[in-house]
Amino acid sequence: MRYLILSDIHANCEALSAVFAHVRRKRWDKAIVLGDVVGYGANPNQAVDMVRELSPLVAIRGNHDKVCSGIEDGEMFNRVALQAALWTRRKLNPSNLRWLQSLPEGPVVVDGAFAVAHGTPIDEDAYIFGEIEALNVFRQTAFPLCFFGHSHFPVVFGLSPDAIQTVLTQPPSFHFRLEPGVRYLVNPGSIGQPRDGNPLASFAMFDSDTRAVAIYRVSYKIERAQQKILDAGLPRPLADRLALGR
Ligand SMILES: [Fe+2]
Repeated sequence: MRYLILSDIHANCEALSAVFAHVRRKRWDKAIVLGDVVGYGANPNQAVDMVRELSPLVAIRGNHDKVCSGIEDGEMFNRVALQAALWTRRKLNPSNLRWLQSLPEGPVVVDGAFAVAHGTPIDEDAYIFGEIEALNVFRQTAFPLCFFGHSHFPVVFGLSPDAIQTVLTQPPSFHFRLEPGVRYLVNPGSIGQPRDGNPLASFAMFDSDTRAVAIYRVSYKIERAQQKILDAGLPRPLADRLALGR
């Protein structure tokens, strides 16, 4: 089975459209969404519509989905993120608002093959930035393989019996085969707001038969997404950071 794994779209339709155009040439069976479909970007309804049309096998909620749909009030958000979330809440149509509110909390096990979580499988709002957080998650869970998002940083952590390993991915495409006896935490990176210093949209594909993970980077019309953010009256730093990838 080949899975298309999408995370942290953040209402960036230009980036999501570019990813869809890229995967049209590839074979995949099921889509998985790791949360944060909305928040920050200027096209929340279009982003939700595009994801819903994919009929993802599993879509879990992210912290921005919760605040933008009114499940949480965003008291932990910084000023810019909260301003964008409240703007998004006003823009979402009732159907998309309900869809976001109905997204389940991770972790969710997909086809008995792997788990998915937004932040971590222990706490959906917590971050895995490095090996200390990854080791903590490995110790407190038993999943052999878990895909996660939230940090907007594409990375693979592997735990073998004697060591933990960080694999930093290389654009434009990174291919990795999961080794037997090693547990993995894999972040596909962010489609709509990458934060690894590379502004290209990031997503993953996973083949559960060959155990191959690929992380792809795709260029998109960044200036257009930026202009939409400014035209919507959203905070300028949200537009600026798209070009920087951080
Ligand atoms: Fe996010």
